Amino acid sequence: MPTNKIFENVQFLIESFEVKLKTFSGEGVDAVLARLHAQDRSATSVLVPEPTTLPVLRYLDQCLVEAHNFDVGIASGISALRPHLQWRQSKAYNDALLGTGFIENYGWCEIIGPRGFFPGDDFLLGLLMLGPSQHYRDHFHPAPELYWPLTSATEWRMSEEPLTPKPAGSVIWHRPNVIHATRTGVAPLLTFWSWTQDTATPARLL
Ligand SMILES: [Fe+2]
Repeated sequence: MPTNKIFENVQFLIESFEVKLKTFSGEGVDAVLARLHAQDRSATSVLVPEPTTLPVLRYLDQCLVEAHNFDVGIASGISALRPHLQWRQSKAYNDALLGTGFIENYGWCEIIGPRGFFPGDDFLLGLLMLGPSQHYRDHFHPAPELYWPLTSATEWRMSEEPLTPKPAGSVIWHRPNVIHATRTGVAPLLTFWSWTQDTATPARLL
């Protein structure tokens, strides 16, 4: 695909994300929208990531059906960019730490960030996937973080709270170094994530 077409597709996805997120409210929504507003999204700054895939992508079609029910623009934007996404895993994670099968059921990519389509200025926006029956257990990082799931029936917790089911579109905001965890049930998870500052330090498991 020519770079100008990729540029159009990434603009469409980011605009769809921004328009929909503006219909929600809260500290995390405001923080991400402010960083997005400040982001250089001009054609001259577009990057073309080297695409990669991961085993967890076997669930993407299923997730996109549900994402389509949440927002048609977002789901079609992800579909259009799909051949160009660079799916990655945090190097420190393995099945011994996170449970047998985790690595086959986990991955993330950046839309904005050094491995995405625009280099973020200490700002990351991307997608995360988990397969069914996974527990991304307690971890923390200095970056304030928004999760905005596009699929339902996943459980989330912060600090000492119990794991609580959250529907698609829930605004999940983690302040710096808050301990948090995510668990999937029968369905896989596709979610937007964003780190709005202090992005240099990776997440640490507890
Ligand atoms: Fe996190």
